[in-house]
Amino acid sequence: MSDYKRILVTSALPYANGPVHIGHLAGVYVPADIYVRYQRMRGREVLFVCGSDEHGVPITIKARQQGCTPQDIVDKYHSIIKKSFADFGIDFDIYSRTSSKIHHETASEFFRKLYDEGKFIEKESEQYYDEEAKTFLADRYIVGTCPKCGNEGAYGDQCEKCGSTLSPEELINPHSAISGSPLVKRKTKHWYLPLDRDEQWLRKWILEDHKEWKVNVYGQCKSWLDGGLLPRAVSRDLDWGVPVPVEGAEGKVLYVWFDAPIGYISNTKELLPDSWEKWWKSEDTKLVHFIGKDNIVFHCIVFPSMLKAYGDFILPDNVPANEFLNLEGDKISTSRNWAVWLNEYLEDFPGMQDVLRYVLTANAPETKDNDFTWKDFQTRNNSELVAIYGNFVNRAVVLTHKYFDGKVPVNAKPEAVDVETLAQLPQIREAIEDYIEHYKFREALKEAMNMARIGNKYISDTEPWKVAKTDIDRTASILYTSLQICANLAIAFSPFLPFSSAKLQQMLCLDKLSWDDLGRAEIMPSGHQIAPAQLMFAKIEDAQIDAQIAKLQASKAAHEAAAKVSAPAPAKAECIFEDFEKMDIRTATVLEAEKVPNTDKLLHLKIDTGLDVRELVSGIAKYYTPEEMVGKQICILANLKPRKIKGIVSQGMILMAEQPDGKMRIISPEERLENGSTIG
Ligand code: MF3
Ligand code: ZN
Repeated sequence: MSDYKRILVTSALPYANGPVHIGHLAGVYVPADIYVRYQRMRGREVLFVCGSDEHGVPITIKARQQGCTPQDIVDKYHSIIKKSFADFGIDFDIYSRTSSKIHHETASEFFRKLYDEGKFIEKESEQYYDEEAKTFLADRYIVGTCPKCGNEGAYGDQCEKCGSTLSPEELINPHSAISGSPLVKRKTKHWYLPLDRDEQWLRKWILEDHKEWKVNVYGQCKSWLDGGLLPRAVSRDLDWGVPVPVEGAEGKVLYVWFDAPIGYISNTKELLPDSWEKWWKSEDTKLVHFIGKDNIVFHCIVFPSMLKAYGDFILPDNVPANEFLNLEGDKISTSRNWAVWLNEYLEDFPGMQDVLRYVLTANAPETKDNDFTWKDFQTRNNSELVAIYGNFVNRAVVLTHKYFDGKVPVNAKPEAVDVETLAQLPQIREAIEDYIEHYKFREALKEAMNMARIGNKYISDTEPWKVAKTDIDRTASILYTSLQICANLAIAFSPFLPFSSAKLQQMLCLDKLSWDDLGRAEIMPSGHQIAPAQLMFAKIEDAQIDAQIAKLQASKAAHEAAAKVSAPAPAKAECIFEDFEKMDIRTATVLEAEKVPNTDKLLHLKIDTGLDVRELVSGIAKYYTPEEMVGKQICILANLKPRKIKGIVSQGMILMAEQPDGKMRIISPEERLENGSTIG
C-alpha cells in the first residue's frame, strides 16, 4: 500500500435484469465492502464505485418477453438492486447506471477517440439475420435443439438445461427466437479491438509483474494468453445500448462489454466532475476491481487493453476475483429460480444482514467454488455469532451493570492471565491487516472471531460471577479486561459486520471507532459509563431453516413442473397405414350444445355429420361455453364405438389438440366444408 496515495475500488456492475442474490454478495460486493471499510478506517483516501449494467441482449429479451421496453426493465431492477445493496450496508460512494447521459457520453467519446486514432480494425463478416423481423440476431436470439441433451429450447450461445456452451452452428434446426423463421446470413460491418497486438505487454504486465495475483485469476489469464488473443468485436447490431458514434453505423451499438467497464469511469465522473481524473489517471492511485470469475478476461485483458489504447489511464493493481457460490449443492440459477434473493432474505430475516454477511464471508468462494447451505447458516449463527461473540459481549456488559453500575471498573488486581490474554490482541490486529491487504477475507474474519473466542474463553475461565462473591477487586480486573476486549471486537469486526459493530459501539458508548485503537489494552478508561446490554445476535430456530429449505424445494418443484408442461407429449409407437384407414374421420357442425347437469367438464352436443344428426358428449366444458360451440364446424371420429356417458349415448369423438399446458382447442377446417367430408 505504501506507494499509493489513494485507492479506487470498483465492484462489477450487476446486470439490471434481475435482483441480486447471495452469490453476487459473497463473490463480489461483501469482499469489496470489507476492503473499503477497512481502508477507510485506516484513514486512507478511498473511492468505492459501482452501478447497474443496463445494456446487453438479455435485457432486450426480457423486455420482449414482458411486452415492455428495455428501459422499463432496467428502471425496475436498478432500484431493487440499489436498495438491496444499501440494505446490506454495501457502502458505495456512488451507485449509478449505464443508461445515464453521462455514461453514454463518456463511452461514446472513448470509442470515438480510439476510432479516430485508428486503434480499431474494421471488418465485414457474415452474421445471422432474420428476414422476417428484419434484424441481425445475437446468439441469444437463436434457438434450436441442443446437440448434447436434446433440449428444444437451447440458445445459440448456451443450453440452459445441460449447461453446455454452444455456438449457433451446433444447434439442430436453428431458427430465430423472434419470428421463428429459419436463419440466413448477411454481411455486416463491425469494429474490433486488436487484442493480438497487445499480447506482449499483457504477458509481461500480468505474468511477470503481477505474480502476486490470486492463483485462480493468474491461471485464467495465463491460459488466455497462452491460447493466443484474437481481435474482439466491440460493436453489435442491436437497438439497445450506446450508439456507435460513427457515420454509417445506424442500428449498431457498442458491445455491452465495451461500454460497461467504462461505467466505472462515468460513475466516478458523475460523482466528482472536477476531480475524477486524479482517481483514474495518476500513478499514485491504486485501482482494484472486485469481480466474479466469469468477468476475469474482461477486467484483466480487454479493459486494460482499452485503457492502454486510450492512453493516460492507470491499470488495475489487482483483480481479486472470486469463484462461484453454489446453493444447497446446486448452481445458483436465476432462470430456475434457484437462489436466495437479498430482498426476500430480509423479509424472512429482518435486521439480520450481518448474519448473512458473516456466513458469506466465512464461507466465501475465494479459492474454489463453495456451497451455501441453510444448515450451515444456522450453525454459524447459533454456535459462532450467538454462542461466542454475542455471549461474551453480553456477559461482560451485564456483569458490569450488575457489579459496577455500568461503569468500566478500576483494574485493581491484574493477574498474568489478563496480561497474556490482552497480549494476543495486537497479534490479531496484525494478522487481520495482513489478510485484508492480501484479499483473504475468510482468514481475516476468522481472526476477528478468534478474538471473540479468546474473550469468551477468558470470561468462562475466570468466572467473575463467582469471584464476585469473595473478591470484588479481582472481579473488577476481570471485567475491565473483558470490556477492553469488547471494544477491540467492535473495531475488529466493523469492516465485516458493520451493523453489529455499530450496536456494540453504542452499548460501549464509544464515540468513533478508530483502527488505531485495535490491539490496545486501555481503549476505555476506568469510570467510563456504558449503556445497558442489547442482544447482538438471536438464535435461529430449526423451523426457520426448515421453512427456507421448503421454499427452495417448492421453487424447484414448480420449475420442474413448468419444464414438464412446456415439453410436448412424447412420440407414440409407429403404426401402419391400415391402422389409420380404419378411422372414419370427417367434418360436422354443432347444432345444439348444453352442459351436462352436475358436471363441470362435459358438454352434450347435437351435431350434423352429413350422414346423420347425432349426439355426443365431450369433455370440453372448461374450454368452450355451449354458446361458443353452436354453429362451429368440427372434426369428429365418427366410427368410435358408442359409449354411455352420464346416461347419454355418445356417438363419436371430437378431435382436439391438447396444448403442452393441458389446454384443449378444437380442430376446425380452415374454411367451411360440406358436413361429412372425410379426412385422411
Ligand atoms: N454485468 C456484468 C456481470 O454481471 C459485469 C459487468 S462489470 C463491468 O457479469 F466492468 F463491465 F462493469
Ligand atoms: Zn443441452
